[in-house]
Amino acid sequence: MEIINRRKRMSSVARKIRREQDRTIGLVPTMGALHEGHLSLVREARRMCDVVVVSVFVNPTQFGPGEDFEHYPRDLTKDTAVLTDYNVDYIFAPTAEEIYPRGFSTYVTVEGLSDPMEGTARPGHFRGVATIVCILLNVVRPDFAFFGQKDAQQSLVIKRMVRDLAFDTEIIVLPTVREDSGLAMSSRNLYLNAEEQHAAPVIHRALAKAKEAFKEGERSANRLVELVRSTIEAEPRARIDYVNVSDAETLERIDRLDDRPAVMAVAVYFGKTRLIDNTILNSAKKKDVAPANLTRA
Ligand code: PAJ
Repeated sequence: MEIINRRKRMSSVARKIRREQDRTIGLVPTMGALHEGHLSLVREARRMCDVVVVSVFVNPTQFGPGEDFEHYPRDLTKDTAVLTDYNVDYIFAPTAEEIYPRGFSTYVTVEGLSDPMEGTARPGHFRGVATIVCILLNVVRPDFAFFGQKDAQQSLVIKRMVRDLAFDTEIIVLPTVREDSGLAMSSRNLYLNAEEQHAAPVIHRALAKAKEAFKEGERSANRLVELVRSTIEAEPRARIDYVNVSDAETLERIDRLDDRPAVMAVAVYFGKTRLIDNTILNSAKKKDVAPANLTRA
């Protein structure tokens, strides 16, 4: 395994693999502090591709003022050890100056899909995400890039960008990996104190209740939202940011559920830590299950 810090070196290594060796490349973009969620993506990339590149970069442009950019957990030594065990070929770990040199002035905005939910709560967030993913896709030019359903809106934004801007990469979206408690794995779970850790699985319990109610025939988005809200509000340490139900492809708000797949998405604060999670209602394909069950975008 090689750790690459330079964008030019990454490009030329990837070019050689494509041209001279005719091997497929899989890219797994991350911000490090790797956990089982990230590793499920790495495992699938390893299974599908000849060469696996994992990028580790805490991307400053996707953090708003006052967010946790400075405090975001960083441990490249530990991440490298983990990725060595997973037989990864390259870690691309550039500095911020390498990605955003002086004079950098081009950003990618995916209109519409970037606006609701996380976009409202974190203005500019998806502009930063789309821009860094665009750069990574251009540097590595992977055949496949792997993302998690945990960040459902992010996956939709990326898929739309790839389609609209004609990237030659197939986006693969994989199911959310959870703790035994049901809590979706996240690098930000590291911020939770013991009581908050104990409280946070209420998010998944609430989403599971809504899914159950949906299965039993509930079709009112309002009533499902109310069920999730009241379940989460029963936990005194939780403070809801949003709960909503929208079309799983377009993110348009839904009042009555029908045959279209819908995504129920939540953001909840525990102390200063903001956690997000979601579940898909109404889909035979997109299940919220074990990592082995691959969902192709
Ligand atoms: P990060 O939060 O490190 O997540 C990297 C990838 O891992 C994302 O595709 C995310 O959806 C996926 N992931 C995180 N938790 C997961 C879980 N519990 N189960 C399955 N997949 C999970 O998302 C980002 O970084 C950044 O925005 C990035 C795309 C790297 C751009 O900077």
